[in-house]
Amino acid sequence: MLVLGIESSCDETGVALVDASGSGVPRLLSHALHSQISMHQAYGGVVPELASRDHIRRVLPLTQEVLSGSGRVLSDVDVVAYTQGPGLAGALLVGAGVAVALGAALDRPTLGVHHLEGHLLSPFLSVDPPQFPFVALLVSGGHTQLMRVDAVGSYELLGETIDDAAGEAFDKSAKLLDLPYPGGPHLAELALRGDAQAYRLPRPLLHSGQPDFSFAGLKTAVLTQIRRLQQANADGLLCEQQRCDVAASTQAAIVEVLVKKSLLALQDTGLKRLVVAGGVGANKQLRAQLDAACARRKVRVHYPELHLCTDNGAMIALAAAMRLQAGLAQPTLQGSFAVRPR
Ligand code: KG4
Ligand code: ZN
Repeated sequence: MLVLGIESSCDETGVALVDASGSGVPRLLSHALHSQISMHQAYGGVVPELASRDHIRRVLPLTQEVLSGSGRVLSDVDVVAYTQGPGLAGALLVGAGVAVALGAALDRPTLGVHHLEGHLLSPFLSVDPPQFPFVALLVSGGHTQLMRVDAVGSYELLGETIDDAAGEAFDKSAKLLDLPYPGGPHLAELALRGDAQAYRLPRPLLHSGQPDFSFAGLKTAVLTQIRRLQQANADGLLCEQQRCDVAASTQAAIVEVLVKKSLLALQDTGLKRLVVAGGVGANKQLRAQLDAACARRKVRVHYPELHLCTDNGAMIALAAAMRLQAGLAQPTLQGSFAVRPR
């Protein structure tokens, strides 16, 4: 069974083909990605209308690239999967529309996939895939959640952010330091040369005893810290070392909370496996601290391949294939498509 997956929920167009013959973990045959980051950078964030238009331009050439990369043709595809949500409505509609149109043209069924399920299952494409059950830390630009995962489709939400997502905290703090969008990786880069102890920033809900998160207050604290430094400097600007120190202190605050809450979820569930997924899962400091803390507790940590941490088509094709293998999904022939932005 060959599953084509299309991701278009935000600012990356991703297409991939997986082979889900048999009962083993589906095999990634080929994938292609186009990032719109440089296009949105001038605006400091994603412009939804531009995103939709660019998905339209990219999705078919990327599909061609994936097919030729795997030595297959369109008629070899058995199921066409697409991201149904959450995401930007217009952007989602492009992927969904193309998927349903391809399905109709090829007389093949289509299947809508939850974007977060894609992130959650993405470590199954790594060389050392996890085994069920595990705790999942989902940390992206839009979500921060801890889940108990017993099987494909069996997800229990243990806790989540009550306001901003971890990626949002990275991005908003990075913006205050005049770093380009999306700020997370840029802030992490700056933090390499900074002192994480330089400024004490708040760690909201750190001691709540619940696997919940709150990051909205952090950006205000970062702003206050930056203002304080600006006022103390004769030129009203931060020197380079201060920028690095603010970045390192911000990253430390976010990472400490993510690590502590992940450990709490592991302790509460008694599970010994942790899966980290979503864009923030690419953060090296987060990985180092989780690895160290989990090693002490004999917990195994699994990450997606670095290039599959952020949005991509492979995770969507994989999630669809795993749902189909598990008999959890019924793809629809000539289906209508309803995207679910929220
Ligand atoms: O999963 P993703 O690609 O898109 C969403 O579904 O949101 O995650 C994007 C988020 C952005 O907030 C980005 O700044 C963050 O992941 N991110 C990082 C790093 N790489 C990506 N944050 C911190 N450190 C990184 N290395
Ligand atoms: Zn995502």
